[in-house]
Amino acid sequence: MKRIKLLDKEFALSIPASDIKKAVWTVAQKLNHDLKDADPLIVCILNGSFMFAADLMKLIEFPCQVSFVKLASYEGTASTGTVKELIGFNETIEGRTIILLEDIIDSGITVSICVDMLAQMKAKEVVVATLLFKPEALRKNIKIDYAGIEIPNDFIVGYGLDYNGYGRNLPDIYSVIQ
Ligand code: IMP
Ligand code: MG
Repeated sequence: MKRIKLLDKEFALSIPASDIKKAVWTVAQKLNHDLKDADPLIVCILNGSFMFAADLMKLIEFPCQVSFVKLASYEGTASTGTVKELIGFNETIEGRTIILLEDIIDSGITVSICVDMLAQMKAKEVVVATLLFKPEALRKNIKIDYAGIEIPNDFIVGYGLDYNGYGRNLPDIYSVIQ
């Protein structure tokens, strides 16, 4: 099994690029079927989602626009997420169908905050699409409309996901070795 080292941690190959490609394709086909007449705005949550967004967008066959948000979310001791907008929503959201793109849904706090913000901005509809989903880690009651691959509750890197900023460039996904 291929292994890599990033900073102080070792990682083992867990999802090869070929499987990621299939999962991206499957999500794209579902979106192409379900949202072809919605004229949606795709909102990509930075940083981790940039690679997923780039590959997915190339497979979308309906008219759409894309925008990026960057949030720093901190978890309070009372387990309520608060968020700082580093790059905010600057398109008109009111009345639009939004496809919210995440690289991975872990606790669900980031997506849940974004969905609430979009609802406040009067989005017509928000659909959530994530490449990866850790069902065991989910702590928020959110609706995940499209999930590419369900994974165990392990820390992973690659394909946009990082460990302290490193590993985003890797085409495959690796899991930390405990
Ligand atoms: P959530 O708010 O807990 O759902 O976490 C979502 C964000 O945490 C994701 O968008 C990722 O940026 C980051 N994240 C969650 N799990 C991992 C992981 O295993 N590796 C790297 N980043 C992760
Ligand atoms: Mg992310």
